Amino acid sequence: MATESTDKTGSPSASPAELPRITLDEIVALCKRRGFIFQSSEIYGGLASTYDYGHYGVLLKNNVKAEWWRAVLQERDDMVALDAAILMHPRTWEASGHLEGFTDPLVQCLGRCKKRWREDDVREEQLGAEDAKGEIRCPECGGELSEPRHFNLMFETLMGPSEETGMKVYLRPETAQGIFVNFKNVLQFARKKPPFGIAQIGKAFRNEITPGNFIFRTREFEQMEIEFFVPPDEAPEWHKRWMEERMRWYTDLGIRADHLQLREHGPDELSHYSAATSDIEYLFPMGWSELEGIANRTDFDLKRHAEFSGEKLEYVDSGSGERYVPYVIEPSAGADRALLAFMVDAYDSEEVEGRERVLLRLHPRLAPIKVAVLPLVNKDGQPERAREIYEQLRTLMPAEYDTGGSIGKRYRRQDEIGTPWGVTVDHQTMEDGTVTLRDRDTLEQTRIAADELGAELARRLAAPWTSPKG
Ligand code: GAP
Repeated sequence: MATESTDKTGSPSASPAELPRITLDEIVALCKRRGFIFQSSEIYGGLASTYDYGHYGVLLKNNVKAEWWRAVLQERDDMVALDAAILMHPRTWEASGHLEGFTDPLVQCLGRCKKRWREDDVREEQLGAEDAKGEIRCPECGGELSEPRHFNLMFETLMGPSEETGMKVYLRPETAQGIFVNFKNVLQFARKKPPFGIAQIGKAFRNEITPGNFIFRTREFEQMEIEFFVPPDEAPEWHKRWMEERMRWYTDLGIRADHLQLREHGPDELSHYSAATSDIEYLFPMGWSELEGIANRTDFDLKRHAEFSGEKLEYVDSGSGERYVPYVIEPSAGADRALLAFMVDAYDSEEVEGRERVLLRLHPRLAPIKVAVLPLVNKDGQPERAREIYEQLRTLMPAEYDTGGSIGKRYRRQDEIGTPWGVTVDHQTMEDGTVTLRDRDTLEQTRIAADELGAELARRLAAPWTSPKG
């Protein structure tokens, strides 16, 4: 069985001129400043490459996942949902090939720093290709490197009350296997026939040798995966359709098309189960890197689980009696990576009236908060009226009421969390019931009757949106 390897970052095919102006450090700083994402266990000095999502991060990630569910489940009639357990029977990982082959080549510095590296990364960096022959040295201290050894990326733990009797189990390294082992249940209870899919969002864990680039590669992350079961002769056509569907999902949610590309895996890069794989890549600050993989997994997984479990995992047509093991097309995306791409694509800064304005030009459907309601001054009945309007709007969409600081400061806070609309209650509101409605992207302010706000914002939220960054 061929060795499976984890994905790579920052393909050198992006020339420096192409790279986004924005740096990951700017995103990290904004995430911390505005409470999107924090270093995990920070008060103990942090745990390397694990992150905690704060209030706005939770809301943003929930929106990414909700948009995924909407596109792959709600707007189709050939998909069902699943939420399988993280801990699975250990035979699962024998059948899937992960126990034997889910490894990365690990080398260790024998010189001063003793750091561990992925051999293929070092070869690519120092010799130009990950399989290039020749001597490589420790990238940190120049020391000699050990012979490579295959390092399995699965986290192990014991299930049961004692070390002696506990069963060795693994934290799943992909959600996909939870879908394959439930194939029979779904066929029986959802009354589906190929082509149909099973969709799932859940945590996955990989003991990555070189995690990094903020939330791009971590040891604990969330996947959004589909296993789409098709008659074998239809697999190439469905593979193509899913590549188009998934590219469209990102662009419909505002990612600029020229910052996305599809890259087909070469024969030496394919996982052991795959007949063909293409990655959707995004132009991150570190270069073109994988956002999502779309693989033709053939009938590998169902056949292996049938062999290891003794269960028949096939489709039998009740009319014709025809039976076959379906092929599987797998669009597999990372929720955290998608969130990072949406943030990078949305991040912008400009000068307004002599001051820098930093903002997230997020698609309104992704924005954590849709509307902020602000009294212009904290007197003359304005805070009370603003609060009333806020309480009405929050029944329709996530809204925020803010009285803290100057109006400019409050707008800037909302710009940085990507709130698309701001409502200001001023002295005129108290006279004629109108408010100003400010647009995050154009800074245009229009006057509108307060009781028309709900309908107007719902209309704007449903309208197509493209990034003003062009
Ligand atoms: N079931 C197929 C599979 O797991 P993968 O390419 O290894 O394929 C799919 O992972 C997606 O999961 C990736 O495209 C990426 O978005 C996300 N992902 C994988 N490893 C990750 C990590 N260490 N940190 C964050 N996201 C990761």
